[in-house]
Amino acid sequence: MPLKEEVEAGTSASHVPRFRLYDRKPPPPDMASEVLRGLRAPRKSIAPKFFYDAAGSALFDAITRLPEYYLTRTEVGILHDHCAAVARHVEANACLVEYGSGSSVKVRILLDACVPTAYVPVDISKDHLAQSARAVFDDYPALSVYPTCADYTGPFELPPPVHALPRLAFFPGSSIGNFDPAAADDFLATVRRLVGPGGHLVIGVDTKKDSGMLIPAYNDAAGVTARFNRNLLRHINTAVGADFDATAFDHRAVYNADAGRVEMYLDAKRDQVVYINGEQIAFARGEALHTENSYKYAPDEFVAKAQRAGLECVDVYQDRQGYFMVLLLCASGLELP
Ligand code: AVI
Repeated sequence: MPLKEEVEAGTSASHVPRFRLYDRKPPPPDMASEVLRGLRAPRKSIAPKFFYDAAGSALFDAITRLPEYYLTRTEVGILHDHCAAVARHVEANACLVEYGSGSSVKVRILLDACVPTAYVPVDISKDHLAQSARAVFDDYPALSVYPTCADYTGPFELPPPVHALPRLAFFPGSSIGNFDPAAADDFLATVRRLVGPGGHLVIGVDTKKDSGMLIPAYNDAAGVTARFNRNLLRHINTAVGADFDATAFDHRAVYNADAGRVEMYLDAKRDQVVYINGEQIAFARGEALHTENSYKYAPDEFVAKAQRAGLECVDVYQDRQGYFMVLLLCASGLELP
């Protein structure tokens, strides 16, 4: 029996619904404790996952359309140029599993080229997931769609109707860049286990490049990224009960070439005390609050990283300037140490 919140449609003669939401009930984060832990540390930080309330998601959408934020349009161009090559490697009757599916926009390029049997968008935000998945189901009449509400950074169970299908995972947007390197290794190993030997992963990764191009991508002239960064404080105010004055912080983006990452900060403009959940947190003028790392990889570096996680490189697709890469990886059958 489907759970109450599950939606079914298009049930076939064999009674397997062609649209159904599977809620794996990811535990809600204890935001207050997590935020306070980061703010009590000698170098203050807040995890980037807290950027994405409704306002933060809308600001991120606006970022993807900025002239300076080359990542999205470059990745979309690469996907268009090379989706036919990807499709040649993907088995017939495949299930396409998208990690962090959001609005399910880019995946349509792969759905058109690879024509999988089933699509499993995985995301933590249930309502948005259900809506976006339904739109895909309406637009692709031959496709079974099983949105799965789960925390995709760890293992989760796939919907039973796709258990026997060959698997193609999709993780676009250089979201892997927001994982610390060790967490990225764990994530790749988890994907490799999910797709199984011979299964594939298509992953979008931003490349290392001159800071003259990277910094404006994370500090645009129109100030959209600054608003996105400051919105984190507004989100914490409403979600946790805090009194951050977001206008009392400056947005800053730097490229740490040694670590190979863009770092974002909010710098306190003056001495101030913030109340969070009844606790006082003091900021000195100029003190930095770290909000995000965005790692960039050289092609060989990422290929080696994937290989260590048991994912062999089939091909690396790039734009002419090498601003971004999309890798097609294949899970090996070897046991990982
Ligand atoms: C979601 N993620 C891949 C974006 C990035 O480029 O790291 C988030 C972002 N932060 C500032 N601009 C965009």
